Amino acid sequence: MNRKYRKTLIAGNWKMNKTPSETKEFMLAFKGLIPKGRWCDIALCVPAVCIPAAVRVMRETRVGIGAENCNANPSGAYTGEISTDMLVDAGCKYVIIGHSERRAMGETDQDVNQKTKAALAAGLVPIVCCGESLEQRESLVTEEWITMQIKYALEGIEADQVRKSVIAYEPIWAIGTGRTATPEQAEYGSKISRATTILYGGSMNDKNAEELLAQPDIDGGLIGGASLVPEKFLKIIEAANQDA
Ligand code: 13P
Repeated sequence: MNRKYRKTLIAGNWKMNKTPSETKEFMLAFKGLIPKGRWCDIALCVPAVCIPAAVRVMRETRVGIGAENCNANPSGAYTGEISTDMLVDAGCKYVIIGHSERRAMGETDQDVNQKTKAALAAGLVPIVCCGESLEQRESLVTEEWITMQIKYALEGIEADQVRKSVIAYEPIWAIGTGRTATPEQAEYGSKISRATTILYGGSMNDKNAEELLAQPDIDGGLIGGASLVPEKFLKIIEAANQDA
């Protein structure tokens, strides 16, 4: 981590897990665990229907609630979609954009760019995801691929706005597999930007967080599975705070 230039952020991505009732239960338990004092930024990105329950419990804490997706249009005939203004009004501070699981459902680089612009315009912090497949890593095109994904995602966005964004480097082969990138690989993919907070995602947990976060160009984590258990998520936050 490099606290001098960039913020530290530990963010959870719940994906399609937990009901609103389970969200309330988690948030109450997690809130009880967070000690007072100076902590890194903490975000929990939850399913859309869980946002109200999460916001209600976490009001007046340092935990920011986020969404896992948004629509780039301000309003209109987009059945089932949620705009960035709706997220802000519901109490969100963050939104994940371009997760590989959504890209696999058809989200394009252009969608990611439009959504990132909409999120910034609404005042949300976009957590923009990038990452290579195992095939791409083995073909030695990781750097080109990630550079291209980030260039597309941030195309036409002013530098001061880019600084407000967060980039999450998540190698697809490390997501949910228990197979983490080595700290060096995790950092390697993140050398793209110097001024923007860069997270590593992919099987980060309470056991390996400390080693991964020790890399100078990893400013935090985007955590799937381990963010579903309050004690595990807290341990990762503690690892991020160790060298504060
Ligand atoms: P896991 O931590 O479960 O591997 O998920 C990572 C991820 O995709 C976070 O966005």
